[in-house]
Amino acid sequence: EKGGYDHFMLKEIHEQPKAMADTLTGRCFPDKIVLDDVNLDAETMKSINRIQIVACGTAYHAGMVGKYLIEKFARVAVETEPASEYRYKDPLVDAHTLLIVISQSGETADTLAAIRLAKEKGARVLAITNVVGSSIAREADDVLYTNAGPEIAVASTKAYVTQVGCMTLLALHFGLLNGQVDKATMKRVTSGLKDTSALIEKALGDHDKIKEYAYEHFKIDDMYFIGRGLDYYTCLEGSLKAKEISYIHSDAYAAGELKHGPIALVDAGTVVIAVCTQENVFDKMLNAIKEVKARGANVMAIAKEGHDEIIPEVDQVFFIPEMDDEITPIPTVVYLQLLAYYLSVARGCDVDKPKNLAKSVTVE
Ligand code: M6R
Repeated sequence: EKGGYDHFMLKEIHEQPKAMADTLTGRCFPDKIVLDDVNLDAETMKSINRIQIVACGTAYHAGMVGKYLIEKFARVAVETEPASEYRYKDPLVDAHTLLIVISQSGETADTLAAIRLAKEKGARVLAITNVVGSSIAREADDVLYTNAGPEIAVASTKAYVTQVGCMTLLALHFGLLNGQVDKATMKRVTSGLKDTSALIEKALGDHDKIKEYAYEHFKIDDMYFIGRGLDYYTCLEGSLKAKEISYIHSDAYAAGELKHGPIALVDAGTVVIAVCTQENVFDKMLNAIKEVKARGANVMAIAKEGHDEIIPEVDQVFFIPEMDDEITPIPTVVYLQLLAYYLSVARGCDVDKPKNLAKSVTVE
């Protein structure tokens, strides 16, 4: 049932091109977004003055990408919070709030509790989930299925990329509903989305080189992920993946924060994964890399093709093709999933069933 792969996680990583295609089919057009079970119209959007995105773990990271994209394309303020925090803090939520929850399983206890709380206060709830008929799908007013297919490995991979895909669709949809997204942007981003299966395929093609990097470094005790803008969220996800299945202590930092503390942790040999796909901050990332290199770090970077100036500054670099900055989170995370996977294998860990973790967290 692992389809010839050693682990479900690896199988699911390789299923991502198809999963993305299934997420987009029938929904993504150059001039419109069609979401069957999302019944928000322009009128309802006008009545919404607050959007909150609430989820746990990996799904929460997809929510952060969602916040960035909704604010960018629809120009509405969005708050994000882990469901376990939201449900216990008397959140500002009322009939003018749209709560978006994200959950692969559709059964996560904290996320479900957040829905119930928000609904009690009159909010509208939109769920992005992978499991048809799950509790979360049933209790939400609107549902957007990720269509990723069953995900067995505890470490979420194809669910994440499809959640990010759904968030991108939703951000464009909201942008259209409130007249904030122009025709050119629609064309550009929807065509970028359509390329994601091929872009993921290309990232998968680099697996040998990633494996090599992982096998050279698997004995490390700590590793750090740095990025800015959308890359920062990818870093949070890469860091979670690494700690979850390889048990290597790891953290993710917004690269601009390094100077405010974390750089004190960088010593000779410290592994730093630098995600540098956002054009507007590429030079700033290059500076951050120089600073950690000056302290002896070993740097693996991910950047867009055309940025050859990064080559002499790092120990290993993976290039992704030129694409819109809003699309990069989808292929980029694949490198970090593979890195976590091979670190886990090299360390002899139980990849699909990491210690202390369950696939679905149905109790607090
Ligand atoms: O089923 P959900 O998406 O609600 O699960 C949320 C988290 O428990 C989940 O994403 C967890 O963080 C994963 N194991 C990460 O790989």
